Amino acid sequence: MGHDSKLMTLTERQKACLDAMGIDVWLPKDAAPAEPQTVGWVEPLGMKGETHRHESPQHDPRRDDDVSSLDWDALQARVAECRLCDLHKTRTQTVFGVGNRDADWLIIGEAPGADEDRQGEPFVGRAGQLLNAMLQALGLARQDVYIANILKCRPPQNRDPKAEEVAHCMPWLQRQIQLIQPKVILALGRIAAQNLLQTNTSLGRLRGRLHYIDMTPTPVIVTYHPAYLLRSPLEKRKSWEDLLLAKKTLESAAS
Ligand code: URA
Repeated sequence: MGHDSKLMTLTERQKACLDAMGIDVWLPKDAAPAEPQTVGWVEPLGMKGETHRHESPQHDPRRDDDVSSLDWDALQARVAECRLCDLHKTRTQTVFGVGNRDADWLIIGEAPGADEDRQGEPFVGRAGQLLNAMLQALGLARQDVYIANILKCRPPQNRDPKAEEVAHCMPWLQRQIQLIQPKVILALGRIAAQNLLQTNTSLGRLRGRLHYIDMTPTPVIVTYHPAYLLRSPLEKRKSWEDLLLAKKTLESAAS
């Protein structure tokens, strides 16, 4: 096992964060991205009037206005009043997203849990604490990045999102991506990754490479969900590899 030279550039604080995550200071010899893979995005926004749109599972006939023209305030207001699926009946509030709206990093999780539903902010529970530690290990504070979910409302008993719920909710996230224009997107867990990339490919096979969604040049990198890492701490090491891939991708895009 070789130690990557980048490791030597980790600050003491980052090393301490890695330690707190339960990750040994170890890196694979070659964390170079595999061949880029293009995966279809649901559908670009702003295609109103095009007939194929009506065949798309993402098209919502009740939403005939153009979400792609909404600014942040209008978008947030629309999300707060959204009743497009039944999740509005059981939510305490919508969970729009939080962080730096000019962030290089966009972190996308699955859906709010009980804590998030109560507080109106994504990743504030135990999984959120681990996410904060993962970010810190990268030298990032929570407020440096933008954090959102595939769904803006909590599914009852934290069940998996239904396809119909994702279809209604995805345009909000698409607009957030358009507004932020992040340099890298980190998809946390299978549900986030598969819905974002419109694929049934397993998380294991999605890891370790760059994906692109049609509407944006932003590379998407997939890693384990922090809630899974809490249950399977041995996988934290692989997740760290994914984070380094994301960091390296961002750095090479900037140079
Ligand atoms: N899990 C998620 O996927 N998102 C949250 O906001 C909290 C837990």
